[in-house]
Amino acid sequence: MTPPNNNEALAAILADPRSKKGALLDILHRVQEAYGYIPQEAVEAIAGHFGTTPADIHGVVTFYAELRTTPPAKKLIGVCQGPACHLRGSQKLKEALEAGLEGADVEVRDAQCVGTCQLAPMIWLDEEQEEAVGNIALEDVPRIVEDIKPH
Ligand code: FES
Repeated sequence: MTPPNNNEALAAILADPRSKKGALLDILHRVQEAYGYIPQEAVEAIAGHFGTTPADIHGVVTFYAELRTTPPAKKLIGVCQGPACHLRGSQKLKEALEAGLEGADVEVRDAQCVGTCQLAPMIWLDEEQEEAVGNIALEDVPRIVEDIKPH
């Protein structure tokens, strides 16, 4: 991931012939890919590119849930919100994880079902959804939080 104060990636994206009018969403996705989020400097440059206001671009960025305006956390945990996990308390599990990890550089995010519903509720301890843990109970949360939190 490129540091946000490096504007080379942004300049290259805006200079790309694909970055013409009507390609706003594509540009935003490429900026996020380059920086990990959409920095305010990029919002202003993109507004200039399209001859509009930063507020207009910010409105588009905040409309799409997959676009973020803040740098991603160092660690990401996914909590499945599919039907089986939801029925087995995944929302409460997510809230308990968020409360336990408050202040840590960890994002607790909704994740989608990957078909391992017999292990509901499921969480993933990595962004790639490879490190899966199933049959999580609320009582397991303090131990999980202790394992995840930087010491
Ligand atoms: S609903 Fe969570 S793994 Fe299927």
